Amino acid sequence: MNARLPVLCALIALGLSGCGGSGPSPAQRQAAVDAFATVQKVFQHPRCQNCHIPGDAPLQFDAGLPHQMGVVRGPTGHGAPGLPCSTCHGEANAPESYGPNAPPGAPHWALPPPEHRMVTIGLSAPALCKMIQDKNENGGRDFAALLKHVGEDKLVLWGWNPGGTRAPVSVPHAEFVAKFKLWADAGGPCPAS
Ligand code: HEC
Ligand code: HEC
Repeated sequence: MNARLPVLCALIALGLSGCGGSGPSPAQRQAAVDAFATVQKVFQHPRCQNCHIPGDAPLQFDAGLPHQMGVVRGPTGHGAPGLPCSTCHGEANAPESYGPNAPPGAPHWALPPPEHRMVTIGLSAPALCKMIQDKNENGGRDFAALLKHVGEDKLVLWGWNPGGTRAPVSVPHAEFVAKFKLWADAGGPCPAS
């Protein structure tokens, strides 16, 4: 710990809002809550929420219909022992010549494991906001790990290049990451409703 930090904090506190534990200013907090609305829009887009579900079968299409062919989550999220997701879903989308209904693909294509399902579908804004940062739910990720995940994970990036005639996530990826960062940097404040 830098011995000069308390002095610095005292100085900053005179002019600005927070230092150390005192948290973001009301304006920063409000900007972060506003940014969360964009984060919510992405997390609850069909390309994202079709896998972030309470049930045991992934969903398909913008309407979120149950996955055809009796596909289930299985013991680890990678499907039933005899029918893993990777039977059909590769590391990348199928070539366009396979037609619009070919299985899309991205690395580690799966559902989250049954013990933490990372459900986003149907959650209110405050509930979604809490889930995303709850380490018991999100695979033990802190904000830095979450930011890396939404910025770089190939399965997340697939949402902007979903193949076939599927609509990509409606918010540009760079804008989503910027808003996520703004929200995370303020400590992840949640909207009241
Ligand atoms: C094919 C299914 C699938 C799709 C589509 C998908 N995810 Fe996920 N997601 C997963 C799996 C599986 C994990 C758990 C991976 C792990 O823990 O390493 C996960 C974990 C996450 C996590 C970390 C845990 C949490 O809930 O905070 C975030 C954030 C996330 N996904 C965001 C997204 C976003 C944003 C999209 C859309 C752009 C998306 N996911 C689309 C399967 C999916
Ligand atoms: C027997 C082959 C097969 C297996 C196994 C399979 N899928 Fe699929 N999946 C498909 C096909 C084909 C499509 C595309 C359907 C279409 O667009 O008409 C698809 C589409 C999807 C979509 C839809 C994307 C969207 O947003 O519309 C998700 C999500 C998905 N699968 C997840 C999974 C997960 C997770 C597993 C493993 C638990 C899995 N699938 C196992 C064949 C399979």
